[in-house]
Amino acid sequence: MIRFTNTALLLGLAALILAACGDATPPGTDPDRFTIAEPGPIPVTDQRPGDPAAGRYTVLNRGYVTCGIPDAAFRASNVFPTREHELNGREGRNAELPYMFNATVNPDGVELVVSNCLTCHASEVEGELVIGLGNAFLDWTNDPSVTAELIGAFVEDGAPADAWAKWADRIAAIAPYMVTDTFGVNPAPNLTLALIAHRDAETLAWSSEPRLGPPPREPLPTKVPPWWRMQHKAAMFHNGMGRGDHVRYMMMKSLVCTDDTDEASEIAEWFTDVRAYIASLEPPPYPYPVDPELAAEGEGVFARVCAGCHGSYGDERDYPNLLIDLDTVGTDPAYARQAVESERFARWFNRSFYGDGAEAMPALGYMAPPLDGVWATAPYLHNASVPTIEALLDSARRPTYWQLRTDPRQYDPDTLGWRFNVLESGKAEADDPTGAKRIYDTTRPGYGNQGHRFGDTLGERERQALLEYLKTL
Ligand code: HEC
Ligand code: HEC
Repeated sequence: MIRFTNTALLLGLAALILAACGDATPPGTDPDRFTIAEPGPIPVTDQRPGDPAAGRYTVLNRGYVTCGIPDAAFRASNVFPTREHELNGREGRNAELPYMFNATVNPDGVELVVSNCLTCHASEVEGELVIGLGNAFLDWTNDPSVTAELIGAFVEDGAPADAWAKWADRIAAIAPYMVTDTFGVNPAPNLTLALIAHRDAETLAWSSEPRLGPPPREPLPTKVPPWWRMQHKAAMFHNGMGRGDHVRYMMMKSLVCTDDTDEASEIAEWFTDVRAYIASLEPPPYPYPVDPELAAEGEGVFARVCAGCHGSYGDERDYPNLLIDLDTVGTDPAYARQAVESERFARWFNRSFYGDGAEAMPALGYMAPPLDGVWATAPYLHNASVPTIEALLDSARRPTYWQLRTDPRQYDPDTLGWRFNVLESGKAEADDPTGAKRIYDTTRPGYGNQGHRFGDTLGERERQALLEYLKTL
């Protein structure tokens, strides 16, 4: 090993390295920054340490969303699902609520029921609720302001009515930007942009009229990625745009109700631990039998064809954090393009409280994600357009029109995905609007299932072996 004793030489080296990086400033330094990231390895940023147990406590119990439904109206209205899962570590009123809600009290003393991260970031496998698994069975096709109004009828006058009005107002403002046209896909990125449009970057003050041009009305379909990837990922989101301090992105759900930086600072303190919790999660092990010999054969195929982008697993773990350009991966470009075109939102983020230490850096590409627990994360690709791994590995098998089977959902260990029906035609030919919403129509803009054809050249045996290997990750 070479030891430098000369400080001047070291400084000179540092200057050279910085010069080689062009004008890239470390995340969080320039208040009016907007950079479109280049494909290639994403640099790793040190994350602030935190206490995973305290983070789990926050996720499951605290009011990091500070407006919601007055508890009395929540009980009286009966429009929400009943509690189905026992979760360790839910305290007080939280323990009685369905898992996607937390209990909190607002400054006026009104007891509230507020939504939490698990609405989207928890899902069932074999009857067990897995925290961190994206929920692919949510239905965002209905206007949420209808429910908000319905609950309004059960709210008492005075402080509860004021509390309800704040929440219902926010829902009404974002509702037009969060209604998807397909069951199962998630509108979170678009609804976040809609919230940003209403807030002052410096103070976070809410204005009823948008200050920025709002995002497009129709949200692009998004898959909710599993939380356990975050211990490996240098950047958040499908396009790797979440650079720098992950804490600030993870607390963005507070954008619904948090109107000043004091409240945001308090939430940010809790979220140092939430980040540590999320980074501590491991995927659930594959619950069905695996053929070890076939899987070992598949490991070789993976090393040859897939590891260059997705990294290697097991003892020699190595994840390269690669952002792959749109031409190379070939998957639907709409999401990546829209993020690049939404410059005003990235600039808002970078200037705001949320951008302190973090930087939104969109790119014309997608990250090759870590594949830990990938068996559980169907449907696949950033837009959830491919129902199974079998279909992902062989593009000829990808259905153009399909529908997730529900009631009950059923996992298919042969294809690695949820069972689905293949349909003959798309939304345009559907009998009624409700039926149309149940159809995943890959001919719609943003919903395309093209690209990622890296498995197409494999032989049938190799593909089977690869599938078997993926069960072990
Ligand atoms: C309305 C649904 C929804 C809610 C609620 C929600 N998220 Fe997400 N989350 C998403 C979606 C969708 C993505 C993927 C977005 C993208 O890549 O553009 C995501 C991405 C993430 C990621 C990045 C994962 C990765 O692999 O890059 C983390 C971490 C995360 N969310 C944490 C949280 C936390 C913490 C909360 C609660 C404070 C929360 N989310 C609330 C839908 C949601
Ligand atoms: C050139 C780089 C590259 C190669 C080679 C590659 N992938 Fe990918 N992979 C990606 C990118 C980028 C994505 C994300 C694309 C998107 O979401 O649109 C992805 C997504 C995936 C996903 C979807 C993950 C999810 O949860 O939605 C799986 C599974 C996957 N790849 C498996 C494989 C396998 C198996 C191989 C080998 C046959 C392979 N990949 C080869 C870049 C690559």
